[in-house]
Amino acid sequence: MTYRVIQWVTGVVGRTALKHFIENPVIDLVGVYVTNPAKVGKDAGALVDLPDTGVMATDDVDAIVALDADCVMYAPLVSDVDTICRLLASGKNVASVGGPFSRRHYPDQFARIDAACVAGGASYHACGVHPGFSGDILPLTLTRLMNRIDRIVVTEFIDKIRNPMVYTEMMGFGRDPEALLAQPSRSPEAPNAFAQSMAVVAEGLGKTIERVTTRLEVATATRDIPYSLGVGLPDTGVVRQGTVGGQHYEWTAWADGNPLIVYHFYWSMGEHIQPRWDIDSRYQVVIEGDPGLEVRLTGLPDANGERPFLGLPWTGLLGATAVPAICDAPPRVLTQFDLGIVQPRGLVRPA
Ligand SMILES: NC(=O)c1ccc[n+]([C@@H]2O[C@H](COP(=O)([O-])OP(=O)(O)OC[C@H]3O[C@@H](n4cnc5c(N)ncnc54)[C@H](OP(=O)(O)O)[C@@H]3O)[C@@H](O)[C@H]2O)c1
Repeated sequence: MTYRVIQWVTGVVGRTALKHFIENPVIDLVGVYVTNPAKVGKDAGALVDLPDTGVMATDDVDAIVALDADCVMYAPLVSDVDTICRLLASGKNVASVGGPFSRRHYPDQFARIDAACVAGGASYHACGVHPGFSGDILPLTLTRLMNRIDRIVVTEFIDKIRNPMVYTEMMGFGRDPEALLAQPSRSPEAPNAFAQSMAVVAEGLGKTIERVTTRLEVATATRDIPYSLGVGLPDTGVVRQGTVGGQHYEWTAWADGNPLIVYHFYWSMGEHIQPRWDIDSRYQVVIEGDPGLEVRLTGLPDANGERPFLGLPWTGLLGATAVPAICDAPPRVLTQFDLGIVQPRGLVRPA
């Protein structure tokens, strides 16, 4: 059995999924949507350094909607619920890496998605590495190794120098520390995207989250820090000495009056910051209790012996590998519990 799939945009996340779809024998790539005019008309294979597939990238939304396909891997810069609903109503399942994730926080959006699922007989699943895996599926799976749980702590460490991203300035690096503390770069809405992850863990343990509290800590650059906007690109920016060189967001979900789930995000512009945080990029799950445990989720070292941060590729793969399960499930909004243990198809194959 094969699944006919459309890749919606080809950023870092989208290209990882596209490469997987081309290479996976159980997937039949039928369409690629792009926004970048330079990519329109290019063969999908050329967009990911693979041989031609015969599928040409298009910026024609109507043509994509008209395609006969089982699933759309939806990975745009910003999710648009109207577009998601249009795809669902046209009978295509949707895996969305940009959400919406939390039904409780976005009830109106989910009401529209519910209606579109019914109209098209299709399913919607929000997915990714975090939210979607490191803060929910992974820790909840690990709770089976515990006798008693006091606290679950999930941390994302990203060294933005070794893992450059285009968003450096937008994220608030290089700004005045007091100004950033007064007006954080992450919107007050941001924890809502992760609330479903926290709720999955709490619900899996039979608990209810009473409230989520937030805290922001800033590290300052101890010298001028040059940075690039992408792996292999030249340095195009500088974080000036004394400005924001690191950000630590902490979100805590409380249950029974105690902090049950804590998410930390340590984003650093390398090692020349004060305070100096751990810059070994990874996800880390610590479960405090009896017996305590720690799991580090990281890529294997590259040729230079350095471990890459794989959050974006993993997001693409978490969506791509869920496609068969999403297509096979009954049509509706699919939570992590609805999907259960996902059984990927086509992964074990010759290189
Ligand atoms: N759940 C998670 O764990 C998780 C983690 C990371 C990211 N994400 C989500 O994944 C999304 C994609 O991340 P990415 O790293 O692949 O981003 P990216 O590299 O910046 O690529 C996004 C792509 O979106 C298209 N695009 C450009 N402008 C757009 C616009 N105004 N509206 C809609 N699409 C536009 C472009 O596609 P073309 O080049 O094909 O034209 C662009 O390459 C993020 O926005 C985020 O919501 C989720």
